Amino acid sequence: MVDLSLKLNEFELDNPIITASGTYGYSNEFEVFCDVQKIGAVVTKGITKEPRLGNDGQRIFETSSGMINRIGLENVGIQTFLKEKLPILQEQGINFILNIAGSAIDDYVELAKIADKNKIKAIELNVSCPNVHSGCIEFGVNKDSLYKLVSKVRDSYSGCLIVKLSPNVTSPEEVALAAENADADAISAINTVRGMGVKLDFVNGQFKKTTVAGGLSGKAIKPVALSFVDRIHKVVDIPIIAMGGIYTLVDILEFFSVGARAVQIGTANFTHPDIAQKLIIELEEFMQKHKFSTLDELQNKLKEAEYV
Ligand SMILES: Cc1cc2nc3c(=O)[nH]c(=O)nc-3n(C[C@H](O)[C@H](O)[C@H](O)COP(=O)(O)O)c2cc1C
Repeated sequence: MVDLSLKLNEFELDNPIITASGTYGYSNEFEVFCDVQKIGAVVTKGITKEPRLGNDGQRIFETSSGMINRIGLENVGIQTFLKEKLPILQEQGINFILNIAGSAIDDYVELAKIADKNKIKAIELNVSCPNVHSGCIEFGVNKDSLYKLVSKVRDSYSGCLIVKLSPNVTSPEEVALAAENADADAISAINTVRGMGVKLDFVNGQFKKTTVAGGLSGKAIKPVALSFVDRIHKVVDIPIIAMGGIYTLVDILEFFSVGARAVQIGTANFTHPDIAQKLIIELEEFMQKHKFSTLDELQNKLKEAEYV
């Protein structure tokens, strides 16, 4: 009756709700909360060539309307992913996107080749993580290095290539165009926004200070993400997967109205681990109620919304 499906190049999703990298583990962690198979796709934690322990010290800081993280890309590394995580995803029939990160072009190319060899249908390039000392953020903020990186990965990978952009740039349009010109199949945006939390204590007449500098996510960044998606939608033709502070169906509709084709749910998973599945049901019910039979119909109608 209602068809929520979509295709990103050849990559098929039953619905446009995706869970964001780093907020959903390797997906099996969430099976006690919902039917992970029903989610459009899950994006794995960012995977690097070698395993990483991530950053020392405090990694999470709660703010009034979002969280700051400086996890530092803790992950099991590609070989353990292939041995231990991939079989679970495949056995359970979970549609997934492999998120990859590196500190040099060769790292990304090697990971892309491994993904290709293992017939992984979609990869998302994290060129935008603000929490590691070298590497990926630099690709995301410079259109020429991003173009070079994406072109090289494209040559090594035949599946759906998604490039995840950083909001920490002066011109979203330039980096989005660089990704499209390098033959990416889709863009996802946004990664976290650079931020810092400060906690002050006053002990025995002396101030004590804790600071956590990292990536801000959650409700605070939704307006930044809406603006970013709106701007890049005006210059690129490839599909955009939007994220940043999505918690409700209304949030999703807002992102569709500025051109998003699909959405990712991130920080919301920490407090509402079944939220992705709930949002799929709400979206379906909304479409049924208002007689939209396909996602295209709904998204086109939203894009035509009249200004008041
Ligand atoms: C704890 C945490 C870990 C994250 N790890 C990754 C990661 O490994 N790779 C990546 O591309 N994005 C990572 N992200 C960014 C999210 O995927 C997402 O882009 C961002 O949080 C914005 O969406 P949200 O506001 O819905 O959380 C992480 C975010 C959080 C909060």
